[in-house]
Amino acid sequence: MDLNKIALEKDSHDDLKKFKSKFLNNSNEIYLDGNSLGKLPLKSIENLNETINKQWGQNLIRSWNDNWLKMSEKINFKMSKLINSDNDEVLVGESTSVNLYKILYCLLNSNQYKKTLVTDCLNFPSDNYIIEGLKDYTEKKEISILNYNNNLSCKIDVLKKSIQENPGIYCLSLVTYKSSFLYPIKELNEFAENNKSIIVWDCSHAIGVINIDVKDSKTKAAIGCTYKFLNGGPGSPSFLYVSKDILSHLQNPIKGWFGHSKPFNFENKYKPADNINKFNAGTPSVLSLIPVNTGLDIVLEAGITNIRNKSIELGEYLIKIIKDELLKFDVKIASPIESSSRGSHITIQHKEAWRICKLLIKGDETRKKIIPDFRPEDNIRLGFSPLYVSFIDLFETVIAIKTILENKEYLKIDNSKSEVT
Ligand SMILES: Cc1ncc(COP(=O)(O)O)c(C=O)c1O
Repeated sequence: MDLNKIALEKDSHDDLKKFKSKFLNNSNEIYLDGNSLGKLPLKSIENLNETINKQWGQNLIRSWNDNWLKMSEKINFKMSKLINSDNDEVLVGESTSVNLYKILYCLLNSNQYKKTLVTDCLNFPSDNYIIEGLKDYTEKKEISILNYNNNLSCKIDVLKKSIQENPGIYCLSLVTYKSSFLYPIKELNEFAENNKSIIVWDCSHAIGVINIDVKDSKTKAAIGCTYKFLNGGPGSPSFLYVSKDILSHLQNPIKGWFGHSKPFNFENKYKPADNINKFNAGTPSVLSLIPVNTGLDIVLEAGITNIRNKSIELGEYLIKIIKDELLKFDVKIASPIESSSRGSHITIQHKEAWRICKLLIKGDETRKKIIPDFRPEDNIRLGFSPLYVSFIDLFETVIAIKTILENKEYLKIDNSKSEVT
């Protein structure tokens, strides 16, 4: 059977197909940028309108009691279902970067682990900047960035050796932003625990598309954003998970009133809440939280196992067509081939990656606009959100790239770059 027919056949049996209609779609566009910004759920438009017009516009301050405080609790509860934590182990609020700072700072000051901070070369730059900024709080006033002699996949034996020789606090991205490498989380958490270490997982590229079971995987701390596969909207707040095993040893460095045990008593002295709420700082960003609620509803309704299964099938199909159609044009696959070591994007490399992305985004009369994203130096990330990406979308994308390469279309356009890629 040819690859086009295989795609149509797979789409016809896709149980998640119906979820696409829950999003605002453009029929002339294939959206493969789920891992920078997910699509807009239609229900979020309705919910935001209601919040702005009725709750804010008419009910004003009364809406804190009537709606907004409860909404935060509801979102935390739904997030706990998604990662299989206890309800009082997770919070949604503030950016990933801020939550990472909070958790690393308090781990460094907890006396539970050696004051050693280690990350690796695959981690997202913002995480490594945050870690660099914390080096004064470490024992040797320095941090380590593990190198694996490539910036695409982790060498597990190198990582384990480091944990053995240099125990302490580690921070890794569960799915790496560049190549989509997926770490064996349970194996590494157990190894870390046996070696008096902890791994803080950045789940930004995993949450909403990978089964994260914090209990089964013995995860102690994690953070992650909600604007990618959870479709929470631009800049939507991140989640922070802290296991009850360590919660009582940790104190939030930002002692704001929403982390107080009784914020509305307005006491002069700070007394932290004796539960996960102590990690709150200021007033929740209500308007940014509304779409997170909807995004979580959609993912919970679809079922994270169904989402992961479709993501694996999409990935395997995409690898097959890339191998069949693109390798002959000097395209390289930069993501792991093995599905169990890969998240929900596949990165391909070509020296003309930037101009290929520009041509895909532009589209023409023979092909739809296709939105991937570019990561330096020569990476094209093809992110497939199983809730709205089909097999035929992937087929059309690969054929579009093949046509661009066959006709050397990139030679006809300029090479200037924009700010957001
Ligand atoms: C893996 C990862 N970690 C951290 C961040 C930073 O998140 P924020 O800008 O919400 O602080 C991002 C942003 O895209 C990311 O992809």
